[in-house]
Amino acid sequence: MGKETALYRRVGTQFENSYGRPPAIVVAAPGRVNLIGEHTDYNEGYVLPVAVDRYILVAAGPRKDRKVSLRALNLGEEDAFSLDEIERGEREWSNYGRGVAWEMERAGHRLQGMEAVIWGDLPMKAGLGSSAALEVALAYSFQLLSNLEIEPLQLALLCQGAENGFVGVQCGLMDQMTSALGEKGHALLIDCRSLDRQLIAVPPEVDIVVADTGRRRGLLDSQYNLRRQECREGARLLGVPSLRSLSPKELAKRRSDLPPTIYRRVRHVVSENQRTLEAAEALGGNLEAFGRLMYDSHHSLRHDFEVSCPELDILVEAARKVSGVYGSRLTGAGFGGCTVSLVSREAVPEFQARVAKEYEKATAKKPTIYVCRPAQGVREVSRCR
Ligand code: GLA
Repeated sequence: MGKETALYRRVGTQFENSYGRPPAIVVAAPGRVNLIGEHTDYNEGYVLPVAVDRYILVAAGPRKDRKVSLRALNLGEEDAFSLDEIERGEREWSNYGRGVAWEMERAGHRLQGMEAVIWGDLPMKAGLGSSAALEVALAYSFQLLSNLEIEPLQLALLCQGAENGFVGVQCGLMDQMTSALGEKGHALLIDCRSLDRQLIAVPPEVDIVVADTGRRRGLLDSQYNLRRQECREGARLLGVPSLRSLSPKELAKRRSDLPPTIYRRVRHVVSENQRTLEAAEALGGNLEAFGRLMYDSHHSLRHDFEVSCPELDILVEAARKVSGVYGSRLTGAGFGGCTVSLVSREAVPEFQARVAKEYEKATAKKPTIYVCRPAQGVREVSRCR
């Protein structure tokens, strides 16, 4: 039995133990690792994420009434609410479920009550899109059990709406789109203005290696929303609808129109958009160039956007010393969480040993290192109805 099948069975059995009947559906929503294009999505720019083979799984069955019961197995917690009166609850994880139900109902989708167990092998709050995967897994479960026709892009937008309007994090759309629309073996180049996307094959000879600092900082912390505000302020001062509208040349000419901190934030976004387009070109045939762009991205996130931290910098520097590593950078919002490195497959064992050793020497903590494969977006993995 494959690793994934074992996970599906496990969550199905847990549902049966909880509710005394088999689940009607089991849904798997992947996490995401962003290869490049950080803090650009909410500036209508470009991103290049992959959906990865770490999942939030939901086993669910319908209820005849409008009650929802959720059990989070990783946390050993549960919550219940009524679809007729959805309010924020005390449990942070459950507010994602309440939020998607609220947003789907607000959009005119009539939902059926549901009982569900949630389980996952995707680390939480590590910058790997766990909130989005949770939203997408629950929204897709509601969709299936309520027999609704919703396009994957629409589902992603509903999930983002839930996070912005209900949970209170002003995130962009990258994570939800990746979890809903990822394709096995591919990265997604997303234009966050038009929402057009292009599949870019990830060469089979490289692995996407994620190293987790172990340092956690939720997006509910004010720093993420603050960066958004700074970008909005930059666009306002420059009189453009979004930072996407600026080229590096135009920005250089307008430098004196911006206070120094805002200028650096804007410079990150403008240069990162450029790097992301170049990286999408390079992924197919020039991995050295791709890797250089990853290091440049990290440098810009560290010094201009100021969302790195010492732990992330240590991991990037340790990766740089291993031969066979093309590039490395922080992935996700930053302020802790993970780095992503592009590593030729035969260099992965060396990466695991050396990076772990250097990190431990510098911080007295062990990093967790995951080797990830580009995976399929949300899907139903079993149906027992
Ligand atoms: C978080 C958000 C995304 C994106 C990244 C930074 O993951 O959810 O929308 O803004 O941070 O690139």
